[in-house]
Amino acid sequence: MNFIFLGPPGSGKGTQAKQVCKEVGILHLSTGDLLREAVKNETALGKKAKAYMDAGDLVPDGLIVGMIEDKLKAGELDGGFILDGFPRTLPQAEALKMMLVKNSKTIDKAILLDVSDDEVIKRLSGRFYCSTCNAGYNYPARMPKQEGVCDNDGTKLLRRPDDEEEVVRNRLDVYKKQTEPIIDFYERESFLARVEAEGTIDSIFQKLLTVIRESD
Ligand code: AP5
Repeated sequence: MNFIFLGPPGSGKGTQAKQVCKEVGILHLSTGDLLREAVKNETALGKKAKAYMDAGDLVPDGLIVGMIEDKLKAGELDGGFILDGFPRTLPQAEALKMMLVKNSKTIDKAILLDVSDDEVIKRLSGRFYCSTCNAGYNYPARMPKQEGVCDNDGTKLLRRPDDEEEVVRNRLDVYKKQTEPIIDFYERESFLARVEAEGTIDSIFQKLLTVIRESD
């Protein structure tokens, strides 16, 4: 079971990929999470990526492709996976295609989570996370029990720097210019599925599970 989750920032790729992977027992690989971890740990990759991420721009293809290639070579994707946030440009999509052929793997479906720009702005302006356990919250869709504090460990909740409205607008522009062309790419390859991703988190989860089980 190998899938790609596509969609604009805030479309729910991370939220849904986590739940689906837990349900069907495959790996959730988020390039955004890997990059944020690298920034937090001040690794060489993190130092190179930080300025791009803070501005809402894409990190150069070479750095991202290298990261995925390392995971493939290490066998981390052998038990099935959802790629969340990769590929994001046509060169990344082409590089992934070559890497998969080299490793005798195929993609079952690239699933596009479709949401409007207004919904993206609403969701990202309400997003908070716990820097200790990484749990995600959203006002008003997924509120913590006590305002501003993580349910799991009591840590004060934070916002991602790239969730400021101006940066979100740039991320949406970048998505339209650099990522949307890969929708056509996967349509031509005949394995694109579109899922209407507005509504409750659970109703979207059920739609995604149906697509995933039908593709298996
Ligand atoms: P990344 O972390 O991938 O950011 P993104 O794609 O912009 O994704 P988000 O995490 O913002 O949104 P999501 O779709 O995962 O939504 P989520 O589930 O969190 O990348 C960050 C940066 O890293 C990029 O800008 C770039 O600089 C760099 N980068 C990463 N990958 C790269 C690549 N391949 N190439 C180059 N650069 C790369 O949900 C959002 C919020 O909405 C949450 O609070 C959630 O609780 C809430 N929510 C979810 N579903 C619903 C719902 N149905 N109703 C109400 N609220 C909901």
